[in-house]
Formats: sequence, structure tokens, C-alpha cells
Amino acid sequence: MQAFAEWIATTGLSRSLAGTGWAVPTLQTIHILAISVLFSAVVMIDLRILGWTGKGQTIGQTLKRFAPWFWGAIVVLACTGALMIVTEPVRELMALSFWIKMVLLAGGIAIAISLHRHVRGNALLYDGEETSPATVRKWAWAVLAVWVAIIFMGRFIAYDPQIWGAWSPIN
Ligand code: HEM
Repeated sequence: MQAFAEWIATTGLSRSLAGTGWAVPTLQTIHILAISVLFSAVVMIDLRILGWTGKGQTIGQTLKRFAPWFWGAIVVLACTGALMIVTEPVRELMALSFWIKMVLLAGGIAIAISLHRHVRGNALLYDGEETSPATVRKWAWAVLAVWVAIIFMGRFIAYDPQIWGAWSPIN
């Protein structure tokens, strides 16, 4: 992985992005804005599934309303994240926090898809009930925990050696 990361650093795109003072802070800012959109969508959907807010809309309507923001933010996060990797490949690809985050991200997206499919496949739940069955509420809490963990890991990337010590490949 180290050799691959060092190879990326020799590419023209990496050199030109790394050579500008504004690329990384601008990409990180757009990344943070997209995190706020994604996390707001996750919280709004979860609070409706838990029956705590948004009872003026069915769960189906809430999903229809916030799912496009969720998936749109994922696209922006993937693009800005990929460009940040190209700009600082060793810092990112050699960070243990980065790989934990990517595994959590795959899990978070898989849970989101299966939760949406489950709700969609259950018309009664989808268009009627005020609160969801306990299993669905448990899923809603799991989703929230996964996205909070992803945010922590995103921030930990910058402090990988300090946080993971000898486990950090950067050491
Ligand atoms: C979709 C794929 C994603 C990729 C490839 C990606 C990649 C990255 C990279 C390379 C960084 C820069 C780390 C650094 O150098 O300090 C970063 C920062 C971060 N990411 Fe992501 N990310 C993705 C999605 C997400 C998601 C879904 C979240 C949270 C919901 C997230 C939360 C964060 C946070 C909190 C930071 C630290 C921002 C900062 O302090 O400036 N990322 N991400």
C-alpha cells in the first residue's frame, strides 16, 4: 500500500493539487458541509422511525423526503474524499483510521439500503404506523451509531499515529 500511495503522489493530478495552497482546505470544507447534510438526513429519518418527531408525515414520506439528500451527500463525500486521497495519498491510505472508516462506511450504506428496503417492503409500516416495531427501532439506533463512528474515524485520520500508536502503519 505504501508503494501504491507513493506512486499516486508522483502523478500529475496529485502534484498539481498538492502544489496549490487552497485544494486541501477547500476539499475538506466541502467534505464537512456534505457530512452535515448526510448526518441531518440520517437523524431526521431515524427520529421519525423512533416516533420522536415528524409524526405529521408517514415513515414512507420521510424516507422519500430525506433519502435523496443522503445519497447526494454520499456522492459529494466520495468525490471530495477521493480528491483528498489523490492530494495526500500517504497521509490517507496509510492511516488505520481511514480503513476503519471505509469498512464502517460500507456497513453504514448496507444497513441504510436494507432498512429502506425493509420499510418499503412493509406497506403497513411504510404508510401507517406512528412508531415502528422494536426491531426497526434497533436498526435505527445502529445506523446512528455507525455514522457517528464514521465521523470520529474521519477526524482521527489526521491524528492516526497519536491515536493508534504502534498499530498505525504511519509509525
Ligand atoms: C464516501 C467516501 C469517503 C471518502 C473516500 C472519505 C475520505 C476522507 C479523507 C481522505 C479525509 C481527509 C482526512 C485528513 O487528511 O485529515 C476525510 C476527512 C473526514 N471525513 Fe471522510 N470520506 C468519505 C466519506 C465520509 C463520510 C460518509 C463521513 C461522515 C458521515 C466522513 C467524515 C469525515 C470527517 C469528519 C473528516 C475530517 C474532516 C476534517 O477534519 O477536516 N467522510 N475523509
